[in-house]
Amino acid sequence: MTALGASFRGQVTLDGPSGTGKSSVARAVALELGAAYLDTGAMYRAATVAVLDAGVDLDDDEGIARVVREATIGIGTDAATEQVTVDDVDVTDRIRGSEVTRAVSPVSAVPAVRRMLVDAQRALVADADAVVVEGRDIGTVVLPDATLKVYLTAAPEARAERRADQLGVTDPARIAAIAEDLRRRDAHDSTRADSPLRPAADSVTVDSTHWERHQTIARIVELARERAEQ
Ligand code: DC
Repeated sequence: MTALGASFRGQVTLDGPSGTGKSSVARAVALELGAAYLDTGAMYRAATVAVLDAGVDLDDDEGIARVVREATIGIGTDAATEQVTVDDVDVTDRIRGSEVTRAVSPVSAVPAVRRMLVDAQRALVADADAVVVEGRDIGTVVLPDATLKVYLTAAPEARAERRADQLGVTDPARIAAIAEDLRRRDAHDSTRADSPLRPAADSVTVDSTHWERHQTIARIVELARERAEQ
């Protein structure tokens, strides 16, 4: 057993599909471990803002890559605050909007974009003694030697209900539509050619279908502390 509050050193990766509450879990785990935190989805979303503002067609891989290469994406690694900028303009709220959410899948599927952002992600965490990094390909591609790799999942229906709760939706037909949208996004992220969403061979799968958020956080913190002691 580790004493409560003992300091953690190492890298925790948290991958998995949309709608598991992964970001809020990852941030809370980082705060409990006293670790830095990197939300890589926010970087793909920021890149998407640059692409949308440049008016580049979402089928134009080369145009997308050029815009992302020229954009300066800024992202904090403090778990207590969220700040994302593109060319020094704050886009923290805008990246969560539906315009960006709709366009981010094609942007994140462009291999040249992935290479640039993976390099940036590695550089951002290189000096951190302790860090939690969240995304889709962190354990498989970005940080293959991480201390602990977690694949966080939940049944689509449970994910849809959580999303509906956040949005204040109670109509069963709309909840079913949200579940369908999650399935479609899972299929898109899991079948793309470059860095598809899949668990790393040495990851621990945490299924949060029947768990409260605090139980999921506690389990991952416990796994991280156990792993860091080995
Ligand atoms: O986690 P999120 O919903 O903010 O991610 C936004 C999009 O970026 C989503 O379509 C998956 C993609 N993404 C990715 O391809 N690789 C990552 N490491 C993180 C996110």
